[in-house]
Amino acid sequence: MQHNTAHHAEPALNVDREMATDSTPGNKACPGSRPWLATILGLGALGFTVTTYSLEAPTGYDGLSNGFLTPTDYQQALDEFRLVQTIPMGLGPVFNDVSCKACHTGPVDGGHSQVSVQRAGYFDGVNFIDPPGGSLIPARAIDPSIRARVPRDANVRALRMSLSTLGDGYVEAIPDRALIKIASNQPKQSKGLIKGQYVLVDLLEAPGKQAIGKFGWKDQHASLVSFSADAYRNEMGITTPLFPTELTSNGRSVDRFETVGQPNDSDHGVLLAANFMRSTKAPPRTPGSPEPKKPPTARQDDIKLGERAFESTGCGICHTASFVTAPAGTPINGGTYLVPVALGSRTFHPYSDFLLHDVGTGDGIVQNGGQSTRNKLRTTPLWGLSKRRTFLHDGSATTLQDAINRHTGEAIQVTGAFKRLSPQENQNLMRFLNTL
Ligand code: HEC
Ligand code: HEC
Repeated sequence: MQHNTAHHAEPALNVDREMATDSTPGNKACPGSRPWLATILGLGALGFTVTTYSLEAPTGYDGLSNGFLTPTDYQQALDEFRLVQTIPMGLGPVFNDVSCKACHTGPVDGGHSQVSVQRAGYFDGVNFIDPPGGSLIPARAIDPSIRARVPRDANVRALRMSLSTLGDGYVEAIPDRALIKIASNQPKQSKGLIKGQYVLVDLLEAPGKQAIGKFGWKDQHASLVSFSADAYRNEMGITTPLFPTELTSNGRSVDRFETVGQPNDSDHGVLLAANFMRSTKAPPRTPGSPEPKKPPTARQDDIKLGERAFESTGCGICHTASFVTAPAGTPINGGTYLVPVALGSRTFHPYSDFLLHDVGTGDGIVQNGGQSTRNKLRTTPLWGLSKRRTFLHDGSATTLQDAINRHTGEAIQVTGAFKRLSPQENQNLMRFLNTL
């Protein structure tokens, strides 16, 4: 199945002719300091030198395409993301909300929101066990008699805040080997304490194939097509060929309330929504952030010192500053998608390793990663942080200080170093975080 059907706008610089280079970033990468990065590979033995360029991914909250889709195709994909689903279109019978945009709205379409969804289940002392119908408890129903409830005896209950999808096309194009390399370096960087876990998850669009999960609080999906199909079904109750089984109400079939046949829709909307997310620009730094090639102001000096404190205390071991996407043409997602020109060989700054960690905040839920992931969460990407008002997976922290101080577990030594920062250093670190 070939999903890479988008038309591409003319890229600023043709990266097709470029050579592949190991795109694994160092943790000490200095984000934002170069508009583009030139890597000189000295292939001395072969007697020639190849120059490869990796462009910075475009950033901005202007709501415009990053170049992956033409403006016309982008508008069509955005319309799908905004589309309010109705019962005749397959909404429900049980569901959480009526459009992707309903939960992915700030600061522009595709972003985060304060909407949370609920999960629940059982812990038997060893394993997490799904309740009938699965751990997701849909909040709404097209008929009051079939509304799902958190089972009264559930001893695991969790809220999940809506994540931003902005810039996720770049995240999708991170080569799996870059994540494996980060995971294998973390123990050395932390006296064995920090051990990011990657999980191989099924690709809905490539039956029998797996890739490393990068999306969702639990890294439950590897591709945007998989996540999109999952969201149509789990958030809106719309089944598609990629995710054909209907949600239930606490395990009870709600089929008699369906007004359209199964699957409710074709894959068309799923692919459009995925291509919309692939077209979003990466979250920008805030105005006033230090700029490459410009002398810093006094305040920008403080921000740079704060960034240094972020790295020196060890935040950057998990909140990886920079990545480079795989080169254009690289097959990913089980071979169903070729990294497009607009998204290939791009440097971007998500401040996440996209790996799972136990930092003491785990919610006890197991999704696609197996029991070892029960109390782990994906390192939250810190790009876009200044636009969020609540923090952590359940929105339970209302200040950055609180969100950071609550890191224990694998992060305990880093949190200790954070707590030992002088008031001035702490303030600089906050200034830096507030530019993301
Ligand atoms: C009821 C609110 C709601 C609706 C509707 C919704 N989402 Fe989400 N979305 C969430 C929440 C909550 C998460 C985090 C879920 C988790 O990981 O447990 C999320 C996460 C995601 C992610 C992962 C982002 C990342 O970087 O990890 C993607 C992609 C996504 N949603 C796409 C969609 C698409 C496409 C639609 C429409 C088909 C949609 N969502 C509809 C609430 C919603
Ligand atoms: C061991 C890996 C690890 C280290 C080290 C680490 N973090 Fe985190 N960070 C995480 C994980 C995992 C989460 C998600 C926790 C949750 O949501 O419950 C997170 C969440 C956050 C959040 C909340 C973001 C949001 O939008 O919800 C902030 C802010 C943050 N970290 C900042 C820092 C800072 C600053 C440091 C250094 C002092 C640091 N982290 C060190 C793994 C780490």
